[in-house]
Amino acid sequence: MKGIWLTIVSFLSLGTSNVAIAATCNSSTLNTTTYSYDITKEDTTVFDVARATNRGVCDIGRQNLMADVTIVPNVGQSFLIPPETCTPDNESCLIKDEGRTRTCIDGGPRLYYTVNGDTYDKIALRLNITTDSLMSVAVHGGVSGSASDETLPVGQFLKVPQCSPSQCVLQPYSFQWGVYKDLAERFGTTVGQLMMLSPTYNYSSLAFSAGGTFPPINLAINCSALSGNTTILS
Ligand SMILES: *[C@@H]1O[C@H](CO)[C@@H](O)[C@H](O)[C@H]1NC(C)=O
Ligand SMILES: *[C@@H]1O[C@H](CO)[C@@H](O)[C@H](O)[C@H]1NC(C)=O
Ligand SMILES: *[C@@H]1O[C@H](CO)[C@@H](O)[C@H](O)[C@H]1NC(C)=O
Ligand SMILES: *[C@@H]1O[C@H](CO)[C@@H](O)[C@H](O)[C@H]1NC(C)=O
Ligand SMILES: *[C@@H]1O[C@H](CO)[C@@H](O)[C@H](O)[C@H]1NC(C)=O
Ligand SMILES: *[C@@H]1O[C@H](CO)[C@@H](O)[C@H](O)[C@H]1NC(C)=O
Ligand SMILES: *[C@@H]1O[C@H](CO)[C@@H](O)[C@H](O)[C@H]1NC(C)=O
Repeated sequence: MKGIWLTIVSFLSLGTSNVAIAATCNSSTLNTTTYSYDITKEDTTVFDVARATNRGVCDIGRQNLMADVTIVPNVGQSFLIPPETCTPDNESCLIKDEGRTRTCIDGGPRLYYTVNGDTYDKIALRLNITTDSLMSVAVHGGVSGSASDETLPVGQFLKVPQCSPSQCVLQPYSFQWGVYKDLAERFGTTVGQLMMLSPTYNYSSLAFSAGGTFPPINLAINCSALSGNTTILS
């Protein structure tokens, strides 16, 4: 009896909150302007931009073909702000930290180039390997002294543990919509490996501007082990 009552209550409250959202969001009063937003202060994150413009962080990420919304932009970057919606998406572009047990990547490449705001935790999450396995190799590779959640210097190459034997198919690709997480899910690779293949790319606010072109990147496709018994090459 109690179970049924609880179900009814949660159903009712869910219904009320949906009505509340619908009632507070009048789609005809949304700002449908697409405009450019400049980063003028150091350490401004894409989440800050989302708050300031009342847009979803993933909507901004996809409008600007971002590698990953957790990369901290540099002063001087500008983002294209998409039209406001009643359902801002702050979730679907974030890499979920669950089931991360792998200790090496399939196929490669070998070196990860650090970008603004990187930590070992963030990089390992993008590569879907444990932070310990990344650190045990990367620290030997010369970048050391940082705790797993401490910000790493920009522009360093980190060695990444590779599973052997394994492979990816490598193809050139014109990046036209989404964030790297969308590509990783569609093509069977990880956000980190796509970043490794185009180490200086992080976003494009020009692709959807007049005269803009889509950025050419490389895809790692169908990354997988070639044996049930792989060893780690570090
Ligand atoms: C939505 O906003 C428009 C313009 O302000 C107004 O005319 C309309 O009545 C509003 N609709 C609702 C459902 O509040
Ligand atoms: C929409 O937002 C832009 C940027 O903040 C602003 O310049 C413009 O006036 C807004 N438009 C409306 C209709 O509120
Ligand atoms: C998503 O982010 C926007 C901007 O930061 C915020 O206004 C909105 O409440 C958030 N929505 C959800 C469902 O978290
Ligand atoms: C992202 O790339 C642009 C060049 O397209 C560069 O100016 C900017 O510094 C990069 N940002 C980060 C955080 O690496
Ligand atoms: C990470 O690896 C685990 C174990 O192989 C797998 O189940 C999971 O789908 C992977 N997650 C991502 C985001 O690639
Ligand atoms: C990747 O794997 C899928 C499913 O096995 C296959 O259909 C596709 O052709 C493969 N892509 C490449 C480029 O090998
Ligand atoms: C796995 O491969 C390693 C190195 O090639 C080998 O030494 C080991 O015996 C293999 N283990 C199994 C269970 O086949």
